This record gives sequence, structure tokens and C-alpha cells, in this order.
Amino acid sequence: MYPSTRHLRFLFTCLIGGAAMAAPYGVSGLLASPRAEDARRLAAEIVVMKADAEHLYNGKMSKPHQAGLRARLRGAMAIMPLLIRAARRDVPAWPAPDRDRIASLKQALAQGKAPEVLSGLAWLMKTYPFDATGLLPADQRPGAVKQAGNIHENYCAGCHDEPDLDVPRPAWSLIELGKKAPEVEIAARLVIGVRGENMTAMDNPLKDSEMSALIHYYRTHQPETDDE
Ligand code: HEC
Repeated sequence: MYPSTRHLRFLFTCLIGGAAMAAPYGVSGLLASPRAEDARRLAAEIVVMKADAEHLYNGKMSKPHQAGLRARLRGAMAIMPLLIRAARRDVPAWPAPDRDRIASLKQALAQGKAPEVLSGLAWLMKTYPFDATGLLPADQRPGAVKQAGNIHENYCAGCHDEPDLDVPRPAWSLIELGKKAPEVEIAARLVIGVRGENMTAMDNPLKDSEMSALIHYYRTHQPETDDE
């Protein structure tokens, strides 16, 4: 059997709706809470897009990595109206997607107009603000941070500690990110980053408490010098 359009549409609805259903909040909280998963994912995506655009335009990246980042930004922009639609089920007060502005933002991105891209993303950030409650302030309790270190070693280090830089979109070192990026950006990257390759298919498998301690871990952990 091959998937019919109806099957595909059903699957798509599940993917978009799945995040909300899997959110660790009660059903009542889900309807009104500004922290429900789809809303948080949208807002985090925007924070990351802004930070990525800043990296892209500071010109310090290799050409292939620039291309990879541009592709990632394009992908996120392409589904922005859908992300907003899903988020508004969590936060009805958030405005519907402004299609004109999103279209001109897409165009600015395609044409490499840095100031327009950055100001467009700043506008999105203000319109759909990221709430890091539950992640920040980072959990600094030694037990939690030790556990975060174990999570990192067991599940993340394999790809992230010595990334393959020959691909357009490397799994950048999270420990280095922790030393360079503001906490809010690390939090946002964790919210959307831990999900495999696909934009929407997989929910973040980490609990808020684990991400919170990971933030402190990445900010403070010193990488071992590599002399095996
Ligand atoms: C199978 C390899 C793999 C594993 C395992 C993995 N990641 Fe990733 N991760 C990636 C790749 C590849 C990217 C870059 C994706 C992209 O640019 O689209 C990424 C991106 C990220 C990002 C976003 C970074 C950014 O530049 O925005 C975060 C945060 C992240 N991963 C956290 C984690 C954490 C935490 C774990 C462990 C719980 C983990 N990852 C496990 C491969 C992996």
C-alpha cells in the first residue's frame, strides 16, 4: 500500500500537532499556556535564526558552512507561517503570520540583504517572544549538572565533540557554543536543536530540567585536551 493524500495530510497534522500533544503540561494548561511546546518551539526557532543570521553575515565562516546556514535559514523561513499557526493554538493572543513581511524577509534572505534580514528577524523576535522559564536560570546544582554531563557523554558527544566539518551543516561543539553564546541562545538552540535532522518530525527528548542543567554544563565544562 502506498500513502494516499489523505494519509499524508493526516500524518502532517500529527507532525504539526504532535508537539503540542506530547507537551508535558496538563490539557488545560496546553490551551492557554504561553509555554506550551509549539509556541516555545516557534519562539526558540526565531532566536536561533537571528543568531545564525548574525554568524552568517559576520563573514567568518567557510563558504560551504555559509551555504549550509543559508539553507537552514531558508528552510525555517519556508515553514514559518506553519510554525506560527501551530504556536497560535497555544497562544491565541499572538498575531497571525504577516505574510507580506514574511515574504519580504524571505526575499531579503535570498538576496543576502543583511540589514533587512536582521531587522525582520528582530521584529519576529519581538512579536513571538521566547520564554525560557524552566530552562533559565540554568540549574547549577552539582547533582543535576553531573547528570547533564552524563547525558552529554552518552547521547550527544559522539556527534558534537569532534564534529565532521566537511559537511555543510556540522554538529558544532556544544561545549564551545556554551563558552561563546548568550544563555538565552543556548537555551533556544537546545529547545529546537535536539531533534535529529528533520524540522518537525521528532520532539525534543530532553526534559526542561535536563536542558537547564545542560546549559550550565556547557557554559562551565572544560573540554579535555585530546591526547589519547
Ligand atoms: C547523530 C548525531 C547527533 C547526535 C547524537 C546529537 N546531535 Fe545535535 N546536532 C547534530 C547535527 C548534525 C546538528 C546540526 C543540524 C543542522 O545544522 O541542521 C545538530 C544540532 C544540534 C543543536 C543546534 C546547534 C545549532 O547550531 O543550532 C543542538 C543544541 C544540539 N544538536 C544538541 C544536541 C544534544 C544536547 C544532543 C544529545 C542529547 C545531541 N544534539 C545529539 C547531530 C547530532
